[in-house]
Amino acid sequence: MDSILVKGNGALNGVIPIAGAKNACLTLMPATLLSEEPLTLTNAPRLSDIATMTQLLRSLGAEVASLQEGKVLALASHGSINHVADYEIVRKMRASNLVLGPLLAREGHAVVSLPGGCAIGARPMDLHIHGLEALGAEIELKDGYLHARAKGGKLRGAELTLRMASVGATENILMAATLAKGTTVIHNAAREPEIVDLAQCLRKMGAQIEGEGTSRIEIQGVDRLGGATHQVVTDRIELGTYMLAPAICGGEVELLGGRMNLVAAFAEKLDEAGVSVVETANGLKVSRKNGRLKAVNVTTEPFPGFPTDLQAQMMALLCTAEGTSVLEEKIFENRFMHAPELLRMGAQIEVHGGHATVTGVEKLRGAPVMATDLRASVSLILAGLAAEGETVVSRVYHLDRGYERVEEKFRGIGAHIERIKA
Ligand code: EPU
Repeated sequence: MDSILVKGNGALNGVIPIAGAKNACLTLMPATLLSEEPLTLTNAPRLSDIATMTQLLRSLGAEVASLQEGKVLALASHGSINHVADYEIVRKMRASNLVLGPLLAREGHAVVSLPGGCAIGARPMDLHIHGLEALGAEIELKDGYLHARAKGGKLRGAELTLRMASVGATENILMAATLAKGTTVIHNAAREPEIVDLAQCLRKMGAQIEGEGTSRIEIQGVDRLGGATHQVVTDRIELGTYMLAPAICGGEVELLGGRMNLVAAFAEKLDEAGVSVVETANGLKVSRKNGRLKAVNVTTEPFPGFPTDLQAQMMALLCTAEGTSVLEEKIFENRFMHAPELLRMGAQIEVHGGHATVTGVEKLRGAPVMATDLRASVSLILAGLAAEGETVVSRVYHLDRGYERVEEKFRGIGAHIERIKA
């Protein structure tokens, strides 16, 4: 397994282009199953998770061609489709569960492996299941697989309320409802930009959807969907991650493609901590204000709140801020695994349940550390850039799931970072 070597850095300056969103692309790709006609996605990120979704869709009989070095994905699923999503692929990536709604809508039945838990929490699928059951699916668990069947062979629109505003459940139900008979209303729907992006793409394919981006989405089912070409929205988590580089090290970095509305709650916390974020014609420009960073309290929440996917990276910043910060993680029950690794670098952090209290130290010190999940990996790189000496982050395969050309992008702004091949 590869490792990443990071050397403590001075100021970082330059420009970083931000890729299309992993989590948007991972829900847009299965939308191809809803139509016989081609779906073309531009601005796709080059990531191992996208390769896993490609493998899954191909195993179902869809065609996926990767063009322009992976930046364009040409998808099609005409003809017969296999309705079984195998455990061997699904267990690699939870987002594989996003084929359930589309398969059920298209075929009237689907067999999809349960993904199992993952490092950041148990992550059950009850909300997906209840939502699809409301649309008339009968779902039972056998041998670790969800066996789903639409009563009467076709889903029917319904009004339903999600117990929690789950991103994945909203996406699965939204996709399934586009081909259901009648009207579906999802109350307490998730409002993430990735859902807005999915709804916009589905609309181009002929779906009738209103209210995406609010907590009430209404879908009028249609008989069939057509083809479309769609540009994947900017990755707000990659954007937020690189915004932290000049915030931690000093300097000024422009993030191309960044927009304030994608990261407003995060940018507000950066401002409070002493970091300036301004919108430019091409993106966002980030620099540190004068003086030492200040402690801030952060609570993760569904969009438009502070994203859980930026909590680990924000903790890296707060490790050297003046004062005591409290980070509250409200989305996942086990998402502080980066904390013990940061302690190895001299950070002062105490974790009690869903709260982490961080007391800022003057300087972190480089150390060998281990990445436990995608966002934890990159938080350790950011901490390494702020530390004295060398940090080696091992188990970085997680990183390649969500950050394309990560060393190249960091090096482009003057960071000392290199990959050590296993
Ligand atoms: N939940 C349930 N039951 C369900 C579904 C979710 O209890 O049926 C719970 C989860 O266990 C969690 C909360 O609801 O505690 C929120 O989960 P959600 O369903 O919103 O998350 P997700 O759809 O599984 C997506 C992203 C995650 C991101 C979360 C929250 C994708 C592919 N993944 O996951 O991204 O953290 O939303 O914003 O879109 C990442 O990119 O690093 C990542 C983990």
